[in-house]
Amino acid sequence: MLQRLTRGGRLGSGMMALGLFALSAAITALMGMPGVQDAAAQEEEEYEFLDPQMCGACHNQQHSQWKGSLHALAHNEAIYDRYFIQASQETDGEIELFCATCHSPIAVMNGSIPFDEPPSSPEDTVLPDKAEETGVNCDFCHSIEDYTELRNAGYVVDRSNVKRGPYEDADAQGFHESEYSELHRTAEFCAICHVVDHPVNGIHLEMTYQEYQESGYPEEGIICQDCHMNRNLGDPPYELPGKAAMTGPEREHVADHYFVGPNIVFAEETGADELKELSLKLLERAADVEITGAEVADGQVVVNVDVTNKGAGHSIPSGITELRQVWLEVVVTDADGNTVMHAGALDEQGAINDDTVIYTTIVKDAEGNATTKFWLTEEKASDYRIPARTTLSETISAEADLEPGEYTVTTMLQYRSVSPFGLSEVGMPEGEVTIPVITMTSDETTMTVE
Ligand code: HEC
Ligand code: HEC
Ligand code: HEC
Ligand code: HEC
Ligand code: HEC
Repeated sequence: MLQRLTRGGRLGSGMMALGLFALSAAITALMGMPGVQDAAAQEEEEYEFLDPQMCGACHNQQHSQWKGSLHALAHNEAIYDRYFIQASQETDGEIELFCATCHSPIAVMNGSIPFDEPPSSPEDTVLPDKAEETGVNCDFCHSIEDYTELRNAGYVVDRSNVKRGPYEDADAQGFHESEYSELHRTAEFCAICHVVDHPVNGIHLEMTYQEYQESGYPEEGIICQDCHMNRNLGDPPYELPGKAAMTGPEREHVADHYFVGPNIVFAEETGADELKELSLKLLERAADVEITGAEVADGQVVVNVDVTNKGAGHSIPSGITELRQVWLEVVVTDADGNTVMHAGALDEQGAINDDTVIYTTIVKDAEGNATTKFWLTEEKASDYRIPARTTLSETISAEADLEPGEYTVTTMLQYRSVSPFGLSEVGMPEGEVTIPVITMTSDETTMTVE
């Protein structure tokens, strides 16, 4: 505890170097983080968090599904790693605790993070202890017993052999104790980490849970788990009968542990084929686009498109929307297949043109520059996204001198998890990761020019 207080002092100076805040306030902000307090309070206890592989010996289904998920990769995947290293470098290590309470919670509780020196390359962030290296894992999630606040890692962890889950009568035959946890069957369990507020100025950086609360799904009893921990992705049946452990009884419902999401950047590397397939399905059922009009007037092609969020329990995109990009691409081709108009195309650097209809969040730093380094956020310059169960009507127009004839108009809703600009801001070496552009959904129509 005292040791961490000393580190708190370093946090203060780092935050001041950022020009963000006064020393004492920054320390208060950090000390208010429950994960940090719990970590200190629990340091004397004996229980050592286990390598997920050990849980997998009896819970093979949960393990094989979880191991390709972003939760399993939360500490060590290449994109997080680069952002973490950059953030640490810029704050002289002071921000490490903040990031790691969500991305590497066991390493924080064990005191392995903050690192002695701000890491400068991915090798420096490798943790030899498997329970620490595997990010958001079995033993961590199933030791959460409560929360103090629904944001910024406000979890309360019981560091013991008791594993908490959805059954009232689980018997783990002596390997561990079990306790019924209502919390694990609620959206609030996820909100503990899926709400990120800036640690100093409080600006909302990720607000998936708030968006969910306004979506109408809570009133219908549909929770995050129904879409993200279920291969039916939010459609009935919600029950998946099976066994929760190889030696356990038949259960009416055994939740999937894929934690399906749109980020498939690492799916190939980890061989997560089933997860990738589910991810593409999730994106497909998330939205609809419909061309409601296409015409030529005064040398302009004008295309009207309705975009509907029909399947996400929150806005599209959600989560770390300072990085995520969803946009409309519109292509008009003539009878010979020649492109006569192309809106929302990527340029040679992979950037999206300023005129494009794009759903994302733009934040600015103290100098007023747009950045994906969200810890530098001083101001939200714009936040335009598609709320749950909402249709937005968009107009896309471009100059085009078209001969009379038949044209084909195609529109696509595109998704990518981070832009080349974002990758360059954190010094990602060229070619180290490939960010796919995924077409979530599309529509096509014909247009006649008289
Ligand atoms: C992000 C947190 C999280 C992680 C990581 C996680 N679980 Fe779970 N687990 C849950 C939640 C939440 C439920 C309850 C889901 C429900 O019933 O809707 C659950 C349910 C379970 C159950 C009851 C049976 C079932 O699948 O519903 C077992 C057993 C289990 N998890 C074991 C594991 C193991 C083993 C791992 C690691 C390989 C793991 N969990 C990783 C959150 C997590
Ligand atoms: C030796 C086998 C074995 C190992 C290893 C094991 N478990 Fe279990 N676990 C079981 C059995 C059996 C059950 C009871 C299943 C049932 O009743 O349906 C169970 C139940 C659970 C439950 C449900 C608890 C509830 O009350 O709903 C969770 C969560 C869980 N285990 C997590 C873990 C985690 C995390 C690990 C690794 C740290 C782990 N288990 C390791 C055998 C094991
Ligand atoms: C201990 C904190 C924590 C808890 C609790 C937690 N998550 Fe996460 N989750 C994360 C982090 C951190 C990431 C991002 C990891 C990365 O991409 O590096 C993530 C990623 C995800 C993703 C992947 C998103 C994508 O872009 O593909 C999904 C889906 C997800 N979580 C769903 C859930 C659900 C559902 C729950 C509740 C049952 C939950 N999480 C509970 C920390 C948490
Ligand atoms: C009705 C189904 C449904 C519910 C309920 C739901 N989600 Fe999602 N979620 C989706 C779909 C579909 C996507 C893909 C579209 C998108 O990115 O928004 C998604 C995407 C995500 C992402 C990645 C965001 C991005 O754009 O990169 C995260 C993280 C996430 N969900 C977490 C949660 C959490 C946490 C909850 C509960 C508070 C939740 N979801 C509730 C369907 C759902
Ligand atoms: C309160 C919990 C929390 C804290 C604190 C937090 N994150 Fe995250 N982070 C998440 C969640 C949840 C996601 C997944 C959201 C999504 O998929 O859209 C995520 C996603 C990310 C991603 C996207 C990874 C990818 O592969 O696309 C990066 C990068 C990231 N976080 C970096 C950081 C850094 C750096 C810090 C510290 C400055 C930090 N995070 C602090 C919860 C947190």
